[in-house]
Amino acid sequence: MANGPSHTESAPGRTKRTSLRTQLLEARPVNRDGFVDEWPEVGLVAMESDGDPRSSIRVEGGVVVEMDGRLRAEFDFIDQFIADHAIDVATAEQCMAVPADEVARRIVDARVPRAEVVALARGLTPARLLEVMKTMNVVEMMMGMQKMRARRTTSNQAHATSGRDNPLQIAADAAEGALRGFSELETTLGIVRYAPLAALGLLIGAQTGRPGVLTQCALEEATELELGMKGLTTYAETISVYGTEKVFVDGDDTPWSKAFLASAYASRGIKMRFTSGTGSEVQMGNAEGRSMLYLEIRCILIAKGAGVQGLQNGSISCIGVPGAVPSGIRAVLAENLVASTLDLECASGNDQSFSHSDMRRTARGLMQLLPGTDFVCSGYSSVPNSDNMFAGSNFDATDYDDWNVLQRDLKVDGGLRHVPEEEILAVREKAARALQAVFESFGFPPITDAEVEAVTYAHGSEDLPLRKVVEDLKAAQSMTERGITGLDVVKALEAQGFRDVAEAVFNMLRQRVTGDLLHTAAIMDAHGEPLSAVNDPNDYAGPGTGFRPTGARWEELKRLRYTTNANNPETTGGGQGPAVGTGGRVLTLDERGPAKQGTRSDEVVVAVSPAFARFFTRTIVDVPLAEVLRTVLAGIEEEGVSARVVRVVSSADLAFIAHSGARLSGSGISVGLLARGTTMIHQRDLPRLSSLELFPQAPLLDLETFRKIGRNAARYAKGDAPEPVPVRNDFMARPRYQAKAAVLQLKETEFIEARRAPIELAVSFG
Ligand code: 5AD
Ligand code: CA
Repeated sequence: MANGPSHTESAPGRTKRTSLRTQLLEARPVNRDGFVDEWPEVGLVAMESDGDPRSSIRVEGGVVVEMDGRLRAEFDFIDQFIADHAIDVATAEQCMAVPADEVARRIVDARVPRAEVVALARGLTPARLLEVMKTMNVVEMMMGMQKMRARRTTSNQAHATSGRDNPLQIAADAAEGALRGFSELETTLGIVRYAPLAALGLLIGAQTGRPGVLTQCALEEATELELGMKGLTTYAETISVYGTEKVFVDGDDTPWSKAFLASAYASRGIKMRFTSGTGSEVQMGNAEGRSMLYLEIRCILIAKGAGVQGLQNGSISCIGVPGAVPSGIRAVLAENLVASTLDLECASGNDQSFSHSDMRRTARGLMQLLPGTDFVCSGYSSVPNSDNMFAGSNFDATDYDDWNVLQRDLKVDGGLRHVPEEEILAVREKAARALQAVFESFGFPPITDAEVEAVTYAHGSEDLPLRKVVEDLKAAQSMTERGITGLDVVKALEAQGFRDVAEAVFNMLRQRVTGDLLHTAAIMDAHGEPLSAVNDPNDYAGPGTGFRPTGARWEELKRLRYTTNANNPETTGGGQGPAVGTGGRVLTLDERGPAKQGTRSDEVVVAVSPAFARFFTRTIVDVPLAEVLRTVLAGIEEEGVSARVVRVVSSADLAFIAHSGARLSGSGISVGLLARGTTMIHQRDLPRLSSLELFPQAPLLDLETFRKIGRNAARYAKGDAPEPVPVRNDFMARPRYQAKAAVLQLKETEFIEARRAPIELAVSFG
């Protein structure tokens, strides 16, 4: 047995013989994930528990006197905060008169406007919101999310951290992340004293990659606020709230203290959101026998009541807990949906290592990627997970291409794009140079040219020279002592010749004065202008409406690292000049008029396709056609049979080509060859669509096989009945080559001359 003592199938003491398949299944990555049985009494249950209260409300004189079965006198401080600040008392009784399943239908129904649902949700209690979610399956929740997310345009957030807290790595990866499309970047530290340098690296890197990208440094709350006030960060996110009083108090907090902190940020025009998520209360051992989702809904309402513009939720750091129980990932989607339904910005998780199984982590990610959320990941790791100081994300820097392909496959906008290598290297280097210059200007320990070069080409912190940590920490401390602010950074950048980066940082500071980033779901668009639910409200109203990738953005999403393009010879092996083989031998096929009917009974005709060694010079897997032809001819010769080469130009259909060759052949035997490598041995007397041997999977044909094909054709010509040439089967040839084969075939058909008879060819290998 591979893993885990409580594996139902492999209970200890099992002596029964297991099948080979079971052994294989037990070794699958998904079985390294932890799964637990529900235990509702302690809150280890996702969203369907008898321990959750039944919904109710009673309002008297503008005050909630009863909520979810509790009288006001029995309220804990969370009930009180929600009742007094989150629920619209003017409409609550009316809203609560709408049954839960009807509310759910209005969330899903594209014809019910978003604003109407928001108004309805404002009058609902935590238990009622839970009841609403319980009626919905994940597809309905995704339908709801598509309409209910606040901002029309979707976006994405990334982690940029360093396993060694190296600010240079943070700067370079932030620059790359910004260029790839993230609209927010966050960092955190192993050693918190490094924080000012990490924030500095992140700020400079982000503004180098793309002006307007927001940055944050997740830290203890007072320090985090201070960095924000100094303008070294431009938003904050990890202001945690919890769903039971006990857990809240354990963190020395109350909803009121969090609300106070929120207003401190707002007073400086700094964007901020709270963080919460299913599983935190049960993980901390105080779930009061409630389901995870019920407690999370209380957190969402606390955020609403505190007046913050948004929330990072989706279990976040606790994902292993809901992830381990039945319907847990559905509950995680439900919490995102509740946040959006309450008109909060939702940064929807996918920010923690979630599963050993690629299939499972993708399935979890699709819940947010498909409908689109304000931030699909609330952190995608822009660094390798081994460098991720948030303990790893559901997606990391090695998943960039997969993400880009998913966006393109499904025509959904997950906020990223493919960027050519030169551009990435350029911004990485520029960010590193800018940080180097600012370090110099502040009198910090130098960043060497060797470090700049290393970080430009690096994947992770392991690829970088070590820095002198103690010296750096002194610099970090001096940053605080000297009271260095964002404005000092602007001045240093300007003085060192990084005028555009200076301007970008300055613009971020300027935004705080306008206050535009306090609007719900605010980001800065590609042109450095604020984009939020105010000037970009989600207007989804069913098919054909709302945000869909179009125009330039869709063109951007279509680009990938590798695509085959019929008109780009480099990708098709076509139009590459002469057909050169090994050792520089050039194949020439000179036309010698119409092909003659063969008379020798010991000949094989090799019939090649219209573009063979004409437009195309290599097979689909880049075997030079010069070598293919030489080898087939050599195989025929080896058997003492002679060969003649003709080109069939009236068709690009292999059966037709091969059969035409067979009819011209004195022996009645031919080898038909398509330019991409697909091959057939044919015989004159067979029906055209039949054959002696067919080699349909061109990608699997190597020269050794071509030689055997030539040999077998010769043996047929001599009247033998040889063993068919063995062929391999590769079930991954289709995903890799099917589309390319289609492109090559389409290109080949461009060379067809419909009325022209087969042509005799003189072959030479010069
Ligand atoms: N509930 C509340 N706060 C959370 N955080 C992460 N997950 C949760 C959760 N489920 C916050 C913590 C953590 C930071 C990364 O985000 O403050 O330190
Ligand atoms: Ca985050």
